[in-house]
Order: sequence, then C-alpha cells, then structure tokens
Amino acid sequence: MNQDELKQQVGQEAVNYIHDDMIVGLGTGTTVHCLVDALGKKMQAGEITDITCVTTSNRTTRQAESLGIPVKAIDDVDHIDLTIDGADEVSADFQGIKGGGGALLWEKIVSYASNRVMWIVDESKMVDNLGKFPLPVEVTPYGSHHLFRRLARKGYRPTWRMNADNSDLFRTHQRNFIIDLHLEQIIDPFKLHKELIDLAGLIEDGLFLDQVNDVLVGTQDGPKLLHA
Ligand code: A5P
Repeated sequence: MNQDELKQQVGQEAVNYIHDDMIVGLGTGTTVHCLVDALGKKMQAGEITDITCVTTSNRTTRQAESLGIPVKAIDDVDHIDLTIDGADEVSADFQGIKGGGGALLWEKIVSYASNRVMWIVDESKMVDNLGKFPLPVEVTPYGSHHLFRRLARKGYRPTWRMNADNSDLFRTHQRNFIIDLHLEQIIDPFKLHKELIDLAGLIEDGLFLDQVNDVLVGTQDGPKLLHA
C-alpha cells in the first residue's frame, strides 16, 4: 500500500470511533479528508444520525457541510468529546508536530477543548525524535521580519511559508503568516515550545505536547491503535 492508501485505511477505520450523540472535532489535512468522506457515507447510510462537529479549518467545514455533516462554531458547543486529526510527525513518546497544512492555531485550540484526542497517521509519520519535519510557527504580520531574523540568529533556519502558487506569503485563517523552522532534530520539545511561545509576535507553534490520547497508525498489516 502506498501512503495515500494508508491514509485512506486509517481515515476509514477512525470513523468507527464516532457515535451518535457525540460532539466531534474534525482536524485538517489529507488524512482527515478520508475520515470526513467516510463519516459522510455513514451518515448518508443512516448509520450515524445525530452528531455535531466542530472543525479546525474552513476547508474541513466546506467538505463536511457538502456531505451533510452538521457543523457548529467552536464557541457554540460547551465541550468536544473526541477530536480526530492528522499529524506531521509523532515521536516514540507521543509528542507531535502539526501544522503542515497551516491550520495549527485552530487545531491547537480545538485540541485543548477536547476530552479525548486521536491522531490518524500513516506509518511514515512515526519517528524516534521530532524535527525532521519543519516546525511551523504562526506569527503576527506586524514586526514579523524582525521575528524572522531573530529566529535565524538562533540558528533555527526559518523560511516563509508561501501560498499554493508561490505568488505571496501564506495567510492563516487569522490572516497571520507562517514561518517554518528547519531544525532537523528537536532534543527537548518542551523547552523549545516554552522558548518560542515567549517570543513577542509568535502566536503559536506546531509542537503538540501531551495532547494526544490515541494514535491510529496505518500500516501494511492494517490499522494499529497505540495508547499514549
Ligand atoms: C494541518 O495543519 C496539519 O496539522 C495536518 O493535520 C497535518 O499536516 C497532517 O496532514 P496530512 O494528513 O495531509 O498528512
């Protein structure tokens, strides 16, 4: 199975964790896209009739609504039972990097508001240590070039995230920029998170630490559920 097939495998498997009467957080990305497709099919077949979803991006909202999945704004629900989201890297001790799709701020807000969090990944995302995948940070445009230079001086090898056709800087839902840090390895993600989040103008980073309860991994032998 190639990577896309493994993403489909976990997306289809993860839908089995969604039941009637739940408030469900839906992540962002290609793996979650497969989950939302599978959820739409289950709803159309009448196997799930009564759920409410909260999403982490307008992309996911559009997909969900096009399939008849009910979506509410995050502040119109008082809790989220389970959020299912993708990830870019998951370390052996279940820390993660997210934000490859640029939705890290909403993803982190939804994650913190959730009673349980499951990540769905293909096996290539499971790593010993974080850092090969560039770590995204969301920054406010005001003064962002100063922040960029500061990150460069720290040796974090920053690059600006560009939009799809490379014509301009990528903008998040909050109209912020994303800077990707090419770190290669992150020895202490907790220390790095603290250092980054203390920088003025840096709104959020893509380190999701102690956030996940379960990781569903797509493998050649079928989906494997790992408890954090
Ligand atoms: C979106 O901002 C990300 O956090 C995604 O969840 C992550 O990049 C995984 O995406 P894929 O499922 O497309 O690999």
